[in-house]
Amino acid sequence: MSCTILILCFFLKLGSSESSIQDGFLFNGYFKFGDSAELNNSNMFSQVIYADSGLSKANQVFYNHPFKFKNSPTGSAFSFSTTFIVAVVAKDPEFNGHGLAFAISPSKGIPGALPNQHLGLFNASNNGNSSNHVVAVELDTDQDFQFNDIDDNHLGIDINGLVSVQSATAGYHDEHGRFKQLYLKSGKLIQVWVEYESLNQRLNVTIHPIKIPKPVLPLLSLTKDLSPYFFEVMYVGFSSAGGSKSSHYIFGWSFRMNGQADEINLSTLPDIPGVTRDNEGDAGDGYRKVQKILAVVLSLVGVIFLLLLIFGALMISRRRKFIQVLEDWEMLYGPHRFSYKDLFIATKGFRQRQLLGKGGFGRVYRGILPFSNVQIAVKRISHDSRQGMREFVAEIATIGRLRHPNLVRLLGYCRRKNELFLVYDYMPNGSLDKFLYQLPNCILNWKQRFKIIKDVASALFYLHQQWVQVIIHRDIKPANVLIDDQMNARLGDFGLARLCDHGNAPQTSHVAGTPGYIDPEIVQSGKSTTCTDIYAFGVFMLEVTCGRKPVDPQASLEKVVLIDWVMNCWDRGAILEAVDCKLGDDYVLHETELVLKLGLLCSHPVAAARPSMSSVVQFLDGAAQLPESLSSMTKSRDFGDDSGQGRVAYDEFPSGNVTIASLTFTESFASDGR
Ligand SMILES: *[C@@H]1O[C@H](CO)[C@@H](O)[C@H](O)[C@H]1NC(C)=O
Ligand SMILES: *[C@@H]1O[C@H](CO)[C@@H](O)[C@H](O)[C@H]1NC(C)=O
Ligand SMILES: *[C@@H]1O[C@H](CO)[C@@H](O)[C@H](O)[C@H]1NC(C)=O
Ligand SMILES: *[C@@H]1O[C@H](CO)[C@@H](O)[C@H](O)[C@H]1NC(C)=O
Ligand SMILES: *[C@@H]1O[C@H](CO)[C@@H](O)[C@H](O)[C@H]1NC(C)=O
Repeated sequence: MSCTILILCFFLKLGSSESSIQDGFLFNGYFKFGDSAELNNSNMFSQVIYADSGLSKANQVFYNHPFKFKNSPTGSAFSFSTTFIVAVVAKDPEFNGHGLAFAISPSKGIPGALPNQHLGLFNASNNGNSSNHVVAVELDTDQDFQFNDIDDNHLGIDINGLVSVQSATAGYHDEHGRFKQLYLKSGKLIQVWVEYESLNQRLNVTIHPIKIPKPVLPLLSLTKDLSPYFFEVMYVGFSSAGGSKSSHYIFGWSFRMNGQADEINLSTLPDIPGVTRDNEGDAGDGYRKVQKILAVVLSLVGVIFLLLLIFGALMISRRRKFIQVLEDWEMLYGPHRFSYKDLFIATKGFRQRQLLGKGGFGRVYRGILPFSNVQIAVKRISHDSRQGMREFVAEIATIGRLRHPNLVRLLGYCRRKNELFLVYDYMPNGSLDKFLYQLPNCILNWKQRFKIIKDVASALFYLHQQWVQVIIHRDIKPANVLIDDQMNARLGDFGLARLCDHGNAPQTSHVAGTPGYIDPEIVQSGKSTTCTDIYAFGVFMLEVTCGRKPVDPQASLEKVVLIDWVMNCWDRGAILEAVDCKLGDDYVLHETELVLKLGLLCSHPVAAARPSMSSVVQFLDGAAQLPESLSSMTKSRDFGDDSGQGRVAYDEFPSGNVTIASLTFTESFASDGR
């Protein structure tokens, strides 16, 4: 990872500022972090941007002058107190920005920091290192499992690293001691207090809406001597995870050593689009006017409400009839049917905050079933055709009976009007593609990867050959492989592509699947078979071993198509060159070689040349050897065309020169050749 570090320092007044140690400050302006930071008062602060080569930048704004945090290197840290008002305006509520943090750092800015999940505080190599000397309070709006985040709306105390020493869901305790949750991304103004008491060595963090006074009970209270983490002189500031998904505003900020931070004057806060004050004390001259408008609006709302009520009653009576008709046959699948109400409660009304992801087939929400408290993932699919619904549900019931340790269990379904809901076991670690591509410091080692490949093979073997019916998955790819809490791989979404064929295929005309994993033969025949899955599984094996996507348009020409690249390496007698460089030397030679060759064999352009899943499992377990003649048969595919742009022309596959005599798993290949 080559991270270009871009440093812009505005108005650095180093010489003069270092010497003047102060007690505190009060700032009644604001600054904004978005794609970049906008400073409203540039005399007081420095802006530092550390960027990686990606799309987001980590922004930091630090106060220009340092503070004295202790008297001598071994002395104990002084008390301090700071308060600021923050607003997070999410542009796309479905996708989380990662949040921001208040930070105390030895320098004006934190060098080398990365955006996104690193919150502009640390990077993959220095995260958790005690030589950082950074103490921070994060306002985190995304759940990063690698840092043990508790949810996607929490505060945490971070000492030298992003795994919080203490964290809690954002909220406050009201005067009766009841906990009230606050939603950080609401765009509302939230006041934050960070206070350290030298005597009791206690760090408190408190947040509250600006309309209520500061609660007595803090949200976080950490008893820890902070002295070892501070140098004598430290700087204070903010860092933002950056990105275009949300903007972070700081309105007013006061800081004081050895005393209580000054109150921020709320009446001087500027109005910013998207930021709600939510302040009840806004009365004044306009009060009457507001009352009048309110009266009109309320009576209008009343009339509309009445109309809706009548309309609703009509709708309900119609709907009841509709459900009754279907229930006769749906009764058959009784145990697999969930009530819409239960799913609605489980997912808190399908709130955006419960959204785990979006896929070709629909959105997936996290939920907790009422009564049983079982964690579930609910896939919501819209389904236009009423035709085939019966088949549809029958098939779901079948799939619901499948049991295999490497399959994500389908617990049941629910349907309502034009929507279908599939209920699965919840997998806390998310999908494999996240591990492969989105978590730079969570690199799977070879042992884990080999296990994942074997797990998926065993699941596919079960679907193809061990269950009473043959089940074709049709969409094997890392995004559909989920990782459970013990790092076992589990195949999800089985049979879905087929299901969606019955109704409306969302993306492609008839060929189901994801580009890059689609068997070239199916493009002509239009029929999926188990061979289609085996092709995709071949690509999957290569992908997991090489750590890159099957088609990468940005790569140099010979590397664009992964299969071609692995083939090319093999031709040159250097097949291991294709192995993911992130693995370093950490792999078992004969295993990687086996997986790469088997991957090529499975993704052979001619379906008949591909092994069955039972053979694949045997090869992977070492119970059978890859045939000697493998090299000639795999290499006989038409890869030679160096001028080829993008995809290989599989149509021109030369017939006849393929030796498969020693392979036992093929049907008549000769009759299949063209
Ligand atoms: C900063 O914002 C405050 C409040 O809106 C305003 O009074 C002040 O003029 C602004 N300063 C600069 C430099 O823009
Ligand atoms: C991480 O940050 C440190 C400074 O704390 C810097 O020296 C190092 O180069 C950074 N590493 C990466 C990979 O960016
Ligand atoms: C922590 O950082 C220091 C200085 O950057 C480095 O020498 C040391 O090896 C790091 N320690 C660990 C455990 O990474
Ligand atoms: C921190 O919170 C505790 C209550 O949990 C309180 O007794 C203590 O005075 C607080 N300290 C500061 C510095 O606010
Ligand atoms: C807050 O600011 C307003 C306008 O600048 C001023 O009139 C008022 O006195 C200030 N209030 C406090 C408590 O400082």
